[in-house]
Amino acid sequence: MIPPRQAITATQETSMTSPRTMAGADARAAARIAAPRWALVAVALGAILSSAHAASLPGSPDPLVPTGRWSANSDGSAPVPPMGWNSWNAFNSDVDEEKVLASAQALVDTKLATLGYRYVNIDDGWWLKRRQPDGRMMIRTSHFPSARTGANPSFRPLTDRLHAMGLKAGIYSDIGRNSCGQIYTPDFKNQPEGSVAEREVGLYGHVDEDIRLYFAEWNFDFIKVDGCGARGLAADAPRVRSGLYRALPPLVDMQSLAASDVAGIRRLYAAVGTALRTHAGQRPYVYSLCLWGAGDVRTWGKDVGNMSRTSDDIQPSWARMLTNLDTVTHRALYAHPGSWNDPDMLFVGTGDFDAAHPVEARAHFALWAMLNAPLIIGYDLRKLTPDQLAIFGNADIVALNQDAAGNQAVLAYDSDDAQIFVKTLADGSKGVAVVNRTAQPVKAVLTAAQLKMTAQGDVRLRDLWSKTERTFRGETALTLAPHETLVFRATGTHRLAGGVYLSEQPGRVNPAVDGIARPTPDPTIHRSITPWTGTRGPGDHPQYGGWGGAEADRAPYGAPIRIAGTAFDTGIGVLANARLEVRNQGSARFTARVGVNDSAPSRAGKVVFEIWGDGRLLARSKPMAFGDAAAPIEARVAGVGIVELVARGDAEGMASPAIWADAALLR
Ligand code: GLA
Repeated sequence: MIPPRQAITATQETSMTSPRTMAGADARAAARIAAPRWALVAVALGAILSSAHAASLPGSPDPLVPTGRWSANSDGSAPVPPMGWNSWNAFNSDVDEEKVLASAQALVDTKLATLGYRYVNIDDGWWLKRRQPDGRMMIRTSHFPSARTGANPSFRPLTDRLHAMGLKAGIYSDIGRNSCGQIYTPDFKNQPEGSVAEREVGLYGHVDEDIRLYFAEWNFDFIKVDGCGARGLAADAPRVRSGLYRALPPLVDMQSLAASDVAGIRRLYAAVGTALRTHAGQRPYVYSLCLWGAGDVRTWGKDVGNMSRTSDDIQPSWARMLTNLDTVTHRALYAHPGSWNDPDMLFVGTGDFDAAHPVEARAHFALWAMLNAPLIIGYDLRKLTPDQLAIFGNADIVALNQDAAGNQAVLAYDSDDAQIFVKTLADGSKGVAVVNRTAQPVKAVLTAAQLKMTAQGDVRLRDLWSKTERTFRGETALTLAPHETLVFRATGTHRLAGGVYLSEQPGRVNPAVDGIARPTPDPTIHRSITPWTGTRGPGDHPQYGGWGGAEADRAPYGAPIRIAGTAFDTGIGVLANARLEVRNQGSARFTARVGVNDSAPSRAGKVVFEIWGDGRLLARSKPMAFGDAAAPIEARVAGVGIVELVARGDAEGMASPAIWADAALLR
């Protein structure tokens, strides 16, 4: 069982409702307010900008002006979601070399490594202290004996060994001065030792020297950068008042965006990215952001790192797995080769996903694979049973996750009870997951339309667990056991001859600007009981502010697409004042029908839709109002690398749900 994260009692920290809520009143007051958002500028601009050439006020960069560039992160090396193993879920901070090497050896012996599980990542617990006065990070050599390399302990022997096994090595740090363990779980093993300065093991103030040490000297390939140090050390925190740690005015507040310094925390994470570019040299690396959806990371994580956590920690419980799943469900357009959504590591093997719960274990694994989550095993692989190996080692399901097209599955059907996810693969076939979230059996119907296939042709479904095949036309009825997720690979005749719908290619669409002026938490996220608070306090309130962003096959806020009474089952929905970047891979034409969705909160305002190609305006709609029938728009995009789709609202229309219905790239 995981020790509770609640390590500070209410009497010690009276302002705390959860151990994750460290910022007291003074800290909140001290925290800076987020920088003014561009949207405010856009209100002023919206009224002015109706000419063909988007312009900006002098000194006010207009984020809707096309750049002809792909702006999501493509540094580092994560063309497909990273796979591997991490020590945290299995061992917490009680990590040592023997456990790490045993897990690495198990990856090799089981052939999971050849399937792609290559990263062997050491999480919290490896550090001893920061040596004074030179600041060099010291390793807990009692736990990592191969690091005893003289005056300057080094992880190089361990990373050399992992590399010789054909694996890659990952390390862990924090963006602040102190670690999650120090701040939230001081009863955990292997806490840093020594003076205040020696216990400052995080990157804050040491970014360049630490990244150089970890990548240039110790040869790591992966770093996870946690965020607790930038959150839990307000001046009035008991541990600061007692002199244990130095205060660091919190940059993120899990409960409050207004009390978070979004620009400040982004700057810190971006600086680590810069150091990685410098010190990893030509070697490929992965930069993993761990900010749990706080600090409005949903808007910028994809631009800064290779993977970005969307939620607080997963736990080995069905309910918590659903919580973490839900934080990525509506975010297919925010995941691309080089920048993945991370709903946290796998808990297959433990608790509700242990050997006695194969249905739940398979569901958790299949969903992570379909949603393009990094597949990072969090289990003590020395205990792996053949049945569990068959889960991690299901090559057909791993192939869904590692598919080169990099399309996160899109939500095709949604309810609290059942969901259907569809993922378009590089060869045009589909991965399909039909999910029963409940503890009762569920009857589900899967349709050819949900797969964007013709109802007249045969659709072949291959069950990726049982390897059985079946064929249907139009639709097929399925019965799901409690908590069961059926996973198929589907082939059939695509409904659109000579092209693909844009919503089938989320890996190629980047919402560079998604029109959200005021981020709000996603109300569809399952609110589970967390082990660290139980039912104390008012209840869990997921902070991941992704709600209202760009969506595939839906309007913003998850609404169905319907324009002036006409329903569309495909398209991209986004709030007005948005700019989508689309990688064009050889298509000749882009077509869509544009309009304001019937889910708009008011009839006010107009939206102009523009298609740009490599920075040149190609087509532009008339101003579209609520209730106007969807208007066709198209452009020749042959030879264009980056197509940009701009939906610009006037003052009243800036928050209108702007729809690129039936959006398609045609040969
Ligand atoms: C945070 C992270 C976890 C893990 C722990 C280590 O809670 O979210 O994934 O790294 O810190 O203390």
